Amino acid sequence: MYKIVSIPGDGIGPEVVAGAVAVLKQLSTKHGFEIVIEEHPFGGASYDLHGEMLTEKTLEACKQCDAVLLGAVGGPKWEKLPHEHKPEAALLNIRKELELFANLRPAKVYDALLEASSLKAEVIRGTDFLVFRELTGGIYFGQPRGYDDNRGWNTMVYERYEVERIARLAFEAAQKRDKKVISIDKANVLEVSQFWRNVVHEVHKDYPDVELSDMYVDNAAMQIVRNPKQFDVIVTSNLFGDILSDIAGMITGSLGMLPSASIGKHHALYEPIHGSAPDIAGQGKANPIATIASVAMMFEYSFCMPDIATEIYQAIEATLASGLRTADIANPGELSVSTTEMTEAIVRHLGA
Ligand code: IPM
Ligand code: MG
Repeated sequence: MYKIVSIPGDGIGPEVVAGAVAVLKQLSTKHGFEIVIEEHPFGGASYDLHGEMLTEKTLEACKQCDAVLLGAVGGPKWEKLPHEHKPEAALLNIRKELELFANLRPAKVYDALLEASSLKAEVIRGTDFLVFRELTGGIYFGQPRGYDDNRGWNTMVYERYEVERIARLAFEAAQKRDKKVISIDKANVLEVSQFWRNVVHEVHKDYPDVELSDMYVDNAAMQIVRNPKQFDVIVTSNLFGDILSDIAGMITGSLGMLPSASIGKHHALYEPIHGSAPDIAGQGKANPIATIASVAMMFEYSFCMPDIATEIYQAIEATLASGLRTADIANPGELSVSTTEMTEAIVRHLGA
C-alpha cells in the first residue's frame, strides 16, 4: 500500500494533478497495488481557507506519507502579501521542513516534439541529461539576509555535509547512466564555489568508475544551448540549479513536459517544473504531461519500480506519437486537445 498526499494547489494545479491521479488509479487497477490518495490544501488555496500557506496539518500529512504529489502554487491574488507569507516562501518552507535537499530535473527530448524546441532538431535530438540541484542550502537559505533603504544582502554558504550528500546522489545516478558528472560552480570568483568544488572532488574518490569534470556556470549556460548532448549528470548549487534547470527545460520544447523530484533521506515530493499559469487556469488548456511524468519519477525514486516509470513514459510517448497535442506543444494553426483529453489518451495507452 502506498500513501500519497496530493496537493493540487493553485492555478492549473488542480487540473494537472487530476490527470496524474487518473494515471495513478489506472496503474493501481492494472497492477493490483493499493494506492491511498489524501488531498491537502497548500499555497494560495490554503491561505484562502486557513489564513496560512502551509498549515501544520498539511505539513504533518506530508511527513507521514510515502510521497507527495504537488501541482503548483501562487498567483496574482497572493502576490501582494508580505515576503514571508508569499506562496514561494511556503514552497521553500516545505522543502526545508521535509529536508528535500536534492532536486532532480531530467532534460529529455521526446522525438515527437523535436520541432517544438526553439533549437534546431539536430542540436537537441538524443539529449538526455539529469540535473541535481541542491535545494535546501546556498543563497536561498543563508544568513544573514535582508535589505534596508540603502543595502540589500544575502549569504551564499555551504556546509560540507550539504555538498557531500548531493554529490553522492549525483555520482550514484551517474553510475546507472553514462557515468559522467559535471559539477557546475563559479570557483573563479566565489570562495563558496571553490569549497563546493573541493568537496565534490573528495567525494568523487569513492566513485572511480564515474568521470568528473567542472564547469563554470556562465559557460554551462552557453554549453547547454550549444551542445546539450555532452551532458549526462549535472550537479550544482541551489541558485545555479534554479537557473540552469529552466534553460535545460526549455530546450526540450515546453516546460509543460517536464517533471521534477525533490528528495531527501526520509521524504519526497514530486511536481511539474511549470508554475500555476493563472492566465489559463480552469480552462482545460493545461498540459498534464509534466505532472504525469512526475508520477513516473515517483515510481522510480520513492517506490523503486522503474518498470512502472518506463510504462508511464512509454504511454506518454505513444500518445504524442499519435499526434495529440495540448496548446503549449501544438504547432501554430494545429488543433489542440484539452487537459482531460490528453489525460484520457495517456490512461488508454497505459492499458488495463
Ligand atoms: C523553482 C522555482 C522556485 C525556486 C520559486 C518559485 C521559489 O523557481 O522551483 O525552480 O526558485 O526554487
Ligand atoms: Mg525555478
